[in-house]
Amino acid sequence: MWVRLIITLVLVQYLNGECDVCQVGRAACHSENTYSICVNGKASNKVITCPTNYVCTGEKYICYPESHYDPICKPVVDLDAYCTATGKPDNYVNKDDPTCKTFIYCFKNGATGLLQGEIYECSTKKPYFNGTGCDSVKPDFCT
Ligand SMILES: *[C@@H]1O[C@H](CO)[C@@H](O)[C@H](O)[C@H]1NC(C)=O
Repeated sequence: MWVRLIITLVLVQYLNGECDVCQVGRAACHSENTYSICVNGKASNKVITCPTNYVCTGEKYICYPESHYDPICKPVVDLDAYCTATGKPDNYVNKDDPTCKTFIYCFKNGATGLLQGEIYECSTKKPYFNGTGCDSVKPDFCT
C-alpha cells in the first residue's frame, strides 16, 4: 500500500512539475489551492486550503490571488496522457480534487491497446478515494 502510494505521488510530481515539492515558502502545493507545511524539507500530512480565489504558489506567503498568479501545481488535464505515463491500469488519486470524492480511472482501450483515463466519482456510501479505493473513512490528505 505505501509503496504504491509513493509511486503514485512520484508520477504525479513528474507530470505536474512542482506538485508536492517543498518550495521556498516552506510549503508544498498539492493542488491548485491546497498545500502543506514543510518541516526539514518534508511536506507534512496536514493539508491546508488557500482562501477562496487564492492559489498555491509556494512563494513567501504561499497563497496568492488567482487573478495575478498561476498555481505551480496544475491540474491533470490530459487524462489519457496521464494514464499512459502511469503505465498500468488502476485507480489513481485525482490531484485536482482535494475533497477526494473523485479519482482517476485508468483502463486499457480494448481496440487500441492504449491506456485511457476517466474521472470517476465515489458513491455517497463510500465517498472518499483513499489511494486504493473508495472508502467511508476520510483520509488525512483530503479536505
Ligand atoms: C481504502 O479503502 C478500501 C476500500 O474500502 C480499503 O479496502 C482499504 O483498506 C483502504 N486503504 C486505506 C489505506 O485506508
